[in-house]
Amino acid sequence: MKNIILTADRPTGKLHIGHYVGSLMQRVKLQNKGDYSEFIVMIADAQALTDNSGNIVKVRDNVLEVMLDYLAIGLDPNKITFCIQSQIPALSELTTYYMNLVTLPRVLRNPTVKSEISQKEYDKEGSGVPVGFACYPISQAADITAFKANIIPVGDDQEPMLEQTREIVRSFNRTYNTNVLVECKAVLPENAVCYRLPGLDGSAKMSKSLNNCIYLSDDEATIKKKINSMSSFPRNIDEPGIIEGNVMFTYLNAFANDAHFSKYYPEFKNLDELTNAYQKGGIGDGRIKKFLNDVMQELLLPIRERRCEFEKNIPMLIEILNKGTKKAQDMANETLNEVKDAMGINYFEDDKFIQDQINKYNN
Ligand code: TRP
Repeated sequence: MKNIILTADRPTGKLHIGHYVGSLMQRVKLQNKGDYSEFIVMIADAQALTDNSGNIVKVRDNVLEVMLDYLAIGLDPNKITFCIQSQIPALSELTTYYMNLVTLPRVLRNPTVKSEISQKEYDKEGSGVPVGFACYPISQAADITAFKANIIPVGDDQEPMLEQTREIVRSFNRTYNTNVLVECKAVLPENAVCYRLPGLDGSAKMSKSLNNCIYLSDDEATIKKKINSMSSFPRNIDEPGIIEGNVMFTYLNAFANDAHFSKYYPEFKNLDELTNAYQKGGIGDGRIKKFLNDVMQELLLPIRERRCEFEKNIPMLIEILNKGTKKAQDMANETLNEVKDAMGINYFEDDKFIQDQINKYNN
């Protein structure tokens, strides 16, 4: 079987370097490997609305921001189908049927949903949580299965969604005695440090709401300022440096390679050497930040430049999304048809149903 790759992002803000190492980098790799028959990247605006119902402007405005980020990092519209979730009605229909295969406790047990709910500080009993939000993993199962996707490049926080999707696939196929739905698996970053990049302030996650991100579109001065503001442990320069929980070193681990060392920090061959020296003492955090800044600037400059080029051609971007969405509608409709067939609710196409009904009343 040829692979079908699918992934998506909620358009709630521009994409940042946490997205980059967590999933975007893998997508570029998978694209370049070319081992797939379809590669779909979806802008999940309907999912974004599950906790932004009153904030339509934010979601709308970020659809193209996210699209610009995609093209800027090198995703290629000739190789990938880009589409917008809310414009694919089959996804909502599939969600409706899948909802009947998932119990209420199962929905509420999803660890990612649980932690998102607690972060949002809905009131204690969770009574402020929209039903749509609690159920978004089910609609995510629709996103994935509508295209029969088997490979999902995502950050590791999405694993519970994929587990839920596999359960729905098994339950559907068992309940309706079919094999139309396909099980999927995640493709995670190769370097575990990239699973969840901490924020600039050292908090567990880089996130727009915590205001601790470096965006792919940040300009040179902003990147430098943000890196200089990173939290570090104050010490006398001769004292041993601490690596554990040191965000600068986490970022270096995620982004720096040996070529960066020979170019910007030739006193050391690689990160292991630098780490050892830093732990002994004598290297100030200012020097580490300077190196980290060099590394980040080298990565982000070409991304920013490509983004600027695409910004000059917004009608083309809209056309790419429009065309991709139409193709995605056709694909999703095809699966929806098979699903309804399997369930036995394709009344008007089902000659046996029609004949049985005639016979039933005419004997
Ligand atoms: N939940 C994902 C996120 O927050 C976005 C998403 C929606 C998704 N549908 C998907 C990811 C399907 C992978 C596959 O980033």
